[in-house]
Amino acid sequence: MCLLLPRFHRRRVSFTLRKSKQITTPARRTTVQAAATAKGRHRSSAGAAMEVKCRRLEGKVAVVTASTQGIGLAIAERLGLEGAAVVISSRKQKNVDEAVERLKAKGITVVGAVCHVSDAQQRKGLIDTAVKNFGHIDILVSNAAANPTVDGILEMKEAVLDKLWDINVKASILLLQDAAPHLRKGSSVIIISSITGYNPEQGLAMYGVTKTALLGLTKALAAEMGPNTRVNCIAPGFVPTRFASFLTTNETIIGLCGRHGCGCRIPGL
Ligand SMILES: NC(=O)c1ccc[n+]([C@@H]2O[C@H](COP(=O)([O-])OP(=O)(O)OC[C@H]3O[C@@H](n4cnc5c(N)ncnc54)[C@H](OP(=O)(O)O)[C@@H]3O)[C@@H](O)[C@H]2O)c1
Repeated sequence: MCLLLPRFHRRRVSFTLRKSKQITTPARRTTVQAAATAKGRHRSSAGAAMEVKCRRLEGKVAVVTASTQGIGLAIAERLGLEGAAVVISSRKQKNVDEAVERLKAKGITVVGAVCHVSDAQQRKGLIDTAVKNFGHIDILVSNAAANPTVDGILEMKEAVLDKLWDINVKASILLLQDAAPHLRKGSSVIIISSITGYNPEQGLAMYGVTKTALLGLTKALAAEMGPNTRVNCIAPGFVPTRFASFLTTNETIIGLCGRHGCGCRIPGL
């Protein structure tokens, strides 16, 4: 994944590569590793110079949630450039349409669907879109997450707790239940956790705890779905996306950090 990031973020990228952690199933191959071993360079939608010659995913179908920008879009793009047909999605039709056009312009076979991951009908719609267009699913990337507050765990409102668990954990499980009948032998499920899952820091604590849960979920699912389906988890460090801009602009986080921009308390740095 780190190789998918823009050139101007290269310093951060190499840092992220060192700091990110992953859980692997016995097959020990992840999308990140696949991306890291691809040869050549091309210019990604985010502006990075990388050429992708490898077409090892020809004939595969990949569904990626929250994939109209940031990490999800970069994953969808890389899977597509390596030959997979990709199904991208997010909450807003406009974002879906723009991302579809962007990927098509790169020669990628892509369709889009609106899918707020905590909406049961839209989750089913996403899986239906994949199956109607391509017949089956080989790769499912569960990438959506929310981080709506910096409140401490003891102050957190129940509605906020519900939102965090719904989007960050429950939706991954429910989407997988919808997708499971369409996953082929040899398929791969990738769950996006976070480095905060290993150490849920103040200001991001409850979000971090939901990401901790994904580490356990990955292990449990790997046991349940193997050997036909591999289940892996990626735990990125800081990646400069819209989601992460919260970390460098939120006053509470900056206060915890002590010095604006120093990053000393930002998880993953
Ligand atoms: N960036 C980091 O530093 C970092 C570090 C560790 C882990 N992560 C994890 O990486 C994942 C992606 O984060 P990112 O930084 O790439 O975010 P991002 O750049 O802000 O992108 C968010 C994407 O998700 C979509 N989205 C937001 N809420 C959604 C929902 N409820 N259902 C479906 N789509 C939704 C957005 O499109 P719409 O607005 O159209 O919905 C957009 O396409 C998250 O799981 C995050 O926890 C990020």
